[in-house]
Amino acid sequence: MEKLIEKIEKGAMPAHDEIVQLLALQGENALLLHRAARRVKRGILGDKVFLRGLIEFSNVCRCDCLYCGIRKSNAKVARYTLSDAEILEEARFAIDHGYGAVVLQSGERDDDDFVKKVAKIVSGIKKISADVGITLSCGEETFDTYRLWRDAGAERYLLRIETANETLFQQIHDAKSIYERRRQALDDLRKANFTVGSGVMIGIPGQTLDDLAADLEFFRDQDLDMIGMGPFLAHGDTPLGKRFPDTEEIKQKRLLLALNMIAVTRLMLRDVNIAAATSLQAISPVDGRQRGILAGANVIMPNLGEAAQKRNYRLYDNKPGIDENAEKAWRELENSLREIGENIAYRESGTPLHYLKRQ
Ligand code: 5AD
Repeated sequence: MEKLIEKIEKGAMPAHDEIVQLLALQGENALLLHRAARRVKRGILGDKVFLRGLIEFSNVCRCDCLYCGIRKSNAKVARYTLSDAEILEEARFAIDHGYGAVVLQSGERDDDDFVKKVAKIVSGIKKISADVGITLSCGEETFDTYRLWRDAGAERYLLRIETANETLFQQIHDAKSIYERRRQALDDLRKANFTVGSGVMIGIPGQTLDDLAADLEFFRDQDLDMIGMGPFLAHGDTPLGKRFPDTEEIKQKRLLLALNMIAVTRLMLRDVNIAAATSLQAISPVDGRQRGILAGANVIMPNLGEAAQKRNYRLYDNKPGIDENAEKAWRELENSLREIGENIAYRESGTPLHYLKRQ
């Protein structure tokens, strides 16, 4: 195993069955894998971690994904949409604290009001700071909408494929979500000249290591700039969460698998940005994100919202940090990163090296 890790650390592309072997690693062998990925991260990207302030600006959604807590038919959710002024205020907090970029995330809507609102807040944030990076994470839209948002000033877009296995994709989404359309949306984002990010959920019921290895090959073949992925977590008010409730043992397994996925992604894709997702922190509140960084991730997305907002934007159970104070959490995060020898790259927008090379 050490030989295989060494070969890939040096830059050899692993074959499919080698990827599967790496994803299955546990204990000391898994640590060897994570350390190799961290060395590659540090060699290419240095000892920096980028912060993106996450603004969950609306939980109104037209989709009915079987795993997601804010799915349309979950009547228990109190729906909200922040006003433009509230969104700009959260963005201003991020900018004032030296975050290089913000992520605007919401449920999916395609009506005119929504499309215009997003364009307006993007240009509003750029007026506060022309240098801050803006990432959108608002789901599947038309090419024209993507173009409009890109022209308004957003540079990056996150749209997870969730799983590259088409059959599994259709099983965990309602009939209106179509795998081919998701892929088309990723192509459209690329055509609209976005820096494109995607990712998957790890440990979806029914998903195999073979599927996850194929997900990594999908990332590579799509030539993605950014990867965001984390463990699947049950939400008790969703069909999938009801059928497959989490146990502590399952969650710990998924955490390790997610760390292995991050590490193998770093070893295969090298110069992309990889986020240590919030769902890692949901399983391991104290050090989930740090462990993501130790396995090769280089981006953290602290939530900028107020408690009430965070409570209503619950994609899975046990969302972390709902009651934490943004100011205090930020200090703690800075310290915990310093402990592992990483520095927050203040005021750097952190465009993925992969994107710069692609231009
Ligand atoms: N568990 C883990 N991740 C989830 N997401 C949505 N619901 C869940 C869940 N139950 C993720 C999806 C989506 C992102 C915004 O949140 O991958 O793309």
